[in-house]
Amino acid sequence: MSKIPNLEHVKSYFDKRIQEHGASPRGSDWNSETSQNLRFDQLLQVVESQTFSLLDYGCGYGALADYLVAKGLDADYYGYDILESAIETARQAHAGKLKRVFFTDKAQLPACDYTVASGIFNFRGEQSFEDWTEYVLGVLGEFDRLSRRGFSSNFLTKYSDADKMRPDLYYADPMVLFDYCKRKFSKNVALLHDYRLYDFTLIVRKD
Ligand SMILES: C[S@@+](CC[C@H](N)C(=O)[O-])C[C@H]1O[C@@H](n2cnc3c(N)ncnc32)[C@H](O)[C@@H]1O
Repeated sequence: MSKIPNLEHVKSYFDKRIQEHGASPRGSDWNSETSQNLRFDQLLQVVESQTFSLLDYGCGYGALADYLVAKGLDADYYGYDILESAIETARQAHAGKLKRVFFTDKAQLPACDYTVASGIFNFRGEQSFEDWTEYVLGVLGEFDRLSRRGFSSNFLTKYSDADKMRPDLYYADPMVLFDYCKRKFSKNVALLHDYRLYDFTLIVRKD
């Protein structure tokens, strides 16, 4: 039985960022638009068509929706976040733009061709590494159920420089998660760990 941690600490952490920095990379706790987009580029490697539906799980203010358009990708975009203030910011930032829906209600999570998640597992606060790992595996299972064609997610890496690592962040083991996805979800899994950030991306293809 997987433990579902109380995510209030996650909400409060990201709420501070969005209240202070609004619809900007720092509002999602990223250092720059360049690194935010570099992560999107990795995650979008799961996509193998021009037209598709996409669930952005932990969408923040929905930066990915604009990035898809900038890349010439025609997606029906669904942005989900647990944080009401992020979704409120997203709705304002994307008002009047087509083919994007934002919501916080988990009951509305749609099945899509693809699910992507950027940065949602990074902050674990005071949860233990073991409990957080169990939670992560549970959410990966959710991605699998929601995604027809595949899903992708990024994680901070345990191969980060020791002096830069923070006790409240989750540094995942890429080998363990790769192995889990390969055994549990699909034979076709990619581990991307060469894009010069302290994180890695897992791509799981289901077709
Ligand atoms: C680092 S921010 C990234 C936002 C966006 N993906 C981006 O790259 O700009 C992580 C977001 O994930 C959300 N989040 C964390 N855990 C979540 C969960 N279990 N379900 C939904 N959203 C979650 C947070 O509220 C926050 O808005």
